[in-house]
Amino acid sequence: MLKDIEKVYYSEEDLHNIVVRLGKQISEDYKDKNLLLVSVLKGSIMFMADLMRQITVPCEIDFMCVSSYQSGTTSSGAVRIIKDLDINLEGKDVLIVEDILDSGRTLGYLKSVLMTRNPRSFRICTLLDKPERRVVPDLFADYSGAEVPDEFAAGYGLDYDEKYRNPPYIGNLKREVYSE
Ligand code: IMP
Ligand code: MG
Repeated sequence: MLKDIEKVYYSEEDLHNIVVRLGKQISEDYKDKNLLLVSVLKGSIMFMADLMRQITVPCEIDFMCVSSYQSGTTSSGAVRIIKDLDINLEGKDVLIVEDILDSGRTLGYLKSVLMTRNPRSFRICTLLDKPERRVVPDLFADYSGAEVPDEFAAGYGLDYDEKYRNPPYIGNLKREVYSE
């Protein structure tokens, strides 16, 4: 496992510090709101679990599963809802919790679907952002943990072909792992 990771971008401690900062900011901004955290499965599970523990205002949680990658490392553009939300969004202050914002296709699609359900507000919190890869205009993260270069990141929930989700740190995969 470790041998496929080229370099550690963010250690467990780095990630903890990032999550504490985001949790504080969100707790401040969502005082007297109707916060609903929506975790985008599966990549955001660790981030969601850690982030919600740093949020000190009342909140609800829900999960959504979409597929944006057929396999490999490039977005197909096609986004499919595999598991929808259980909670009605009317009157909720929705905060999407995502592992990484890349082309923006996944969240662009999610946003357009969820906005039709009349949330009171809609914002995006992403752990990682690759801004130079964005193809969807005007799609940005309201809360962003850290920017990463245009390489393939793995660990702390992020996968390549469903693997490498378990390490508590984030690194980049060696190119030979995903280029064959
Ligand atoms: P987008 O639709 O191109 O923004 O892709 C977003 C989704 O692609 C994320 O939720 C991730 O699941 C996946 N993804 C994009 N870049 C990476 C990466 O570097 N490592 C792991 N997953 C990634
Ligand atoms: Mg993924």
